[in-house]
Amino acid sequence: MKVIVVENYAEVSAEAFKVMHELVASKPNAVLGLATGSSPIGLYENMIKDHKENGTSYAECQSFNLDEYVGIDRNHEQSYYTFMHENLFNGIDIKEENVHLPYGNTKEDCEAYERSMDNVTVDIQVLGIGSNGHIGFNEPGTSFDEETHIVTLKEGTRKDNARFFENDINKVPTHAITMGIATIMKAKKILLVATGANKADAVSAMVDGPVSVDCPASVLQNHPDVVVIVDKAAASKLK
Ligand code: F6R
Repeated sequence: MKVIVVENYAEVSAEAFKVMHELVASKPNAVLGLATGSSPIGLYENMIKDHKENGTSYAECQSFNLDEYVGIDRNHEQSYYTFMHENLFNGIDIKEENVHLPYGNTKEDCEAYERSMDNVTVDIQVLGIGSNGHIGFNEPGTSFDEETHIVTLKEGTRKDNARFFENDINKVPTHAITMGIATIMKAKKILLVATGANKADAVSAMVDGPVSVDCPASVLQNHPDVVVIVDKAAASKLK
C-alpha cells in the first residue's frame, strides 16, 4: 500500500488526478470504478477541467459505480446517479451507455450488476473511506467474500450523510445496493482518497491495523496495487 500525505484537500485532489490521468492517457478505453461522496469531488473537478482545457477524452471509457441508495428514484436529487452526472459525467465526454451504476433492491438486481462486470476488469477503482472504515457501503462486519449486495446502513453512516438530506436522518434511506469487497478487490488498481480529522482513526486502522472485518478498508492491505492519498489531518494517527 503506497500512502501519500499532502497538505490539504486541493493537493489530495491534484495527486489523485495525476494517477487517474496517467491511466486514461495511456489507456483511452480504461474501465473506471467510481465513488460518490465529498472525497472524490475535487478529483472529478480536475478531470472536467483537464477534459475542457486539454481534450483528454473519456469517449472510449466505461464506468462502474460502487453503490446507490435503495428506495429513492434514480432522478432524485440525492441519488448517486444524479450525483455522478452533476459532478462528473455531464462535464466530460463519457457516453451515457458506458455509464453503469447499481440500481434496485433484489438479489436479481445485485446479480445483474455483478454480471455486467463479468467481461471487464476495472482498471482503477476510486474509493473514499467512511469514518467507521467502510468502503462502498460495506460496513464493519461485512464478509470480504461478498459481491454486489443490499445493505442496511448503520446509523452512524446515515448521520454522516444526513447533511445531504436537509440534516434530517429520517430522510436518509435505510438501505443501499453496493459492490461487495470481493468485487472491489478485483480492480487492477485502487485509488483511495480521504481528508479531515474525522477520517484519522479509519485511515490508521486501514493502513496500520490488522486486516479485519472490523475495518473493511483494512482488506486493501491484501491488494497488490493501492495508492492512498490523504491530507495531514486524515494522516494524523498513522504510525
Ligand atoms: C461512496 C461510498 C462511500 C464513501 C464514504 C466516504 O460511493 O461508497 O464509501 O466513499 O462514505 O464519504 P465522503 O467522501 O463523503 O466522506
